[in-house]
Amino acid sequence: MSLKEDIQKLKQEKNAIILAHYYVEGDVQDVADFVGDSFALAKKAKETDAQIIVFAGVRFMGESAKILNPDKKVLMPDMNADCPMAHMAVVSNIRKMRKEVDDLAVVCYVNSTAELKTLSDVCVTSSNAVKIVKNLPHKNIYFIPDQHLASFVKEQVPEKNVILNDGYCITHHRMSKEDVLKAKEKYPKALVLVHPECKKEVVELADYAGSTAGILQYATKSEHTEFIIGTEMGVLYELKRQNPNKKFHIMSDKLVCVNMKKVTLDKLYDVLLHEKNEIVLDEEVMVKAKKSMDAMLEMAKA
Ligand code: 13P
Ligand code: SF4
Repeated sequence: MSLKEDIQKLKQEKNAIILAHYYVEGDVQDVADFVGDSFALAKKAKETDAQIIVFAGVRFMGESAKILNPDKKVLMPDMNADCPMAHMAVVSNIRKMRKEVDDLAVVCYVNSTAELKTLSDVCVTSSNAVKIVKNLPHKNIYFIPDQHLASFVKEQVPEKNVILNDGYCITHHRMSKEDVLKAKEKYPKALVLVHPECKKEVVELADYAGSTAGILQYATKSEHTEFIIGTEMGVLYELKRQNPNKKFHIMSDKLVCVNMKKVTLDKLYDVLLHEKNEIVLDEEVMVKAKKSMDAMLEMAKA
């Protein structure tokens, strides 16, 4: 039996489900029960009946699944697959902001630690941040940790005072205006689709900016047949699978998230077999963080 077959068999025996983000390697996406962007994965994690969730992604994703399902076992193929941006907000700054600014909501990108979620009013992902910020009753929004998604939201929701924090995604932050211009020169007929974790100078040159699921949907629905993709290159796997007759060019070879790439089939098999690398969070942290996660799920429906 192949490793992929062994994994499928173990999943059945253990009533386990594998959730994978589009940024993990294609062979890992192949064994997943569901592949999606951060928001779709959070929703899926909440709905599943499986007893064990193996999260093929980075740590904050596994933590979010655990927060939404405190009674389930959430396993990580690699405990060191962590998103640096998830840690890029300072607790004392959040407390200070709450004291000093009236009519303030702390809005937390789901790419954040469980502790940061406990200090926030609502979580958001790149696919619902604009909608949620628009619908919040507060005038002032402290958006943590990603400065680039915050600046994208600020642009789209000018009626709010969006206060930026200085975090960033180490992968998307590498893209510059020059990278876009170089790619456009090489592929002049292609449309440019980017993730809002990219810098403003990159987003401004794009034909579309949105979450990984948004990029997939845009490329699939579009009559255009050639695209430059400004997000982590793992997404090319699903883009090509859904659109075998269209051409996709990665904006730059620098678009690799080393943490997502730590997830491998061998590690998946091993954690499933031994039920190891379980996400364990403090009870109180889970209860508080769940409030901001539930608030997101509720507001995204509206
Ligand atoms: P989305 O899944 O919301 O597109 O976010 C991308 C990302 O960086 C996940 O780590
Ligand atoms: Fe974090 Fe960026 Fe990697 Fe997503 S792509 S996990 S935001 S470093």
